[in-house]
Amino acid sequence: MRERQHQQIARWERIWLAFSGLMTVMFILLIAYNLATEGGHIAQRTAKASPEQILAQDVFANPGVRALAPGRVQASMVARAFSFQPQDVRVPVGSEVTFYLTASDVQHGFQIERTNVNVQLIPGEIARLVYTFDQPGSYRVTCNEYCGIGHHDMLGTVTVVPASQWSAPARAAAAAADDDPDAGPDGATVYATHCASCHQANGRGVAGAFPPVAGHMAELTREQGRAYVAQMMLYGVQGPIEVEGTTYSGVMPAWSQLSDAELAAVTNHALTGFEGYEADDVEPYAPDEFAEQRGLGLSAADVLERRNE
Ligand code: CUA
Repeated sequence: MRERQHQQIARWERIWLAFSGLMTVMFILLIAYNLATEGGHIAQRTAKASPEQILAQDVFANPGVRALAPGRVQASMVARAFSFQPQDVRVPVGSEVTFYLTASDVQHGFQIERTNVNVQLIPGEIARLVYTFDQPGSYRVTCNEYCGIGHHDMLGTVTVVPASQWSAPARAAAAAADDDPDAGPDGATVYATHCASCHQANGRGVAGAFPPVAGHMAELTREQGRAYVAQMMLYGVQGPIEVEGTTYSGVMPAWSQLSDAELAAVTNHALTGFEGYEADDVEPYAPDEFAEQRGLGLSAADVLERRNE
């Protein structure tokens, strides 16, 4: 009798175990289904620095919207009890918007209605995410983490306007580009299109998240050599690196889809295009230097190894 009872319990236990296992599998499948159909907007949290350090840099000291290149804008906002700064941002419809978000005091939330943008903002961390608004309109932003007595009043808006009604606060860089079509690719344009959303329009990066290129490109050329710089551009770098006393553990993607001429132009822009960081002692890169390093089949991790050698 006791033996039978024991087996009974074991049988029910087995059923429950199978049931909970099945639920786990179902939840994972639902997440996978959602990612496949709705797309993932998981914010990167690469930055870890003091809140003061994060708030002092340009992207958060002067938050708001700026144009990076045609079809690309950047929007930065700071959450503090009990408001977003700025409260309202205007972005053009159909443009890729890179949000840079942080909290200055306590933990806040950032949720944009009618989208799947929903992130936690933590002091000392930067949330970066990319979203494209397909429909014009006014989208309410709410803080969805209880942050104190005024939490329910913590609202903002993202206003999405037709591109024709949107004026870029800083379109100068992109507009200045197309003067001489025979001069080859323009480094500033290549930079604005592919690099500025991480390394920032001023080339100073975001401390703790994306290393500076202004000043640093010249240093890399002197210390690691020109071949290394070409490899870094072509294959990317992955793993922890230290720049100006700050450790970065992100991934720089490979840019081999750019032409040799574009790579040379953008590298030269990093050397001489940022005020106060011009490296006149470094010879400009030539497209051949990139051509020579193509086809080596290196990985981003291989490039880091060469850097550490
Ligand atoms: Cu901020 Cu709730």
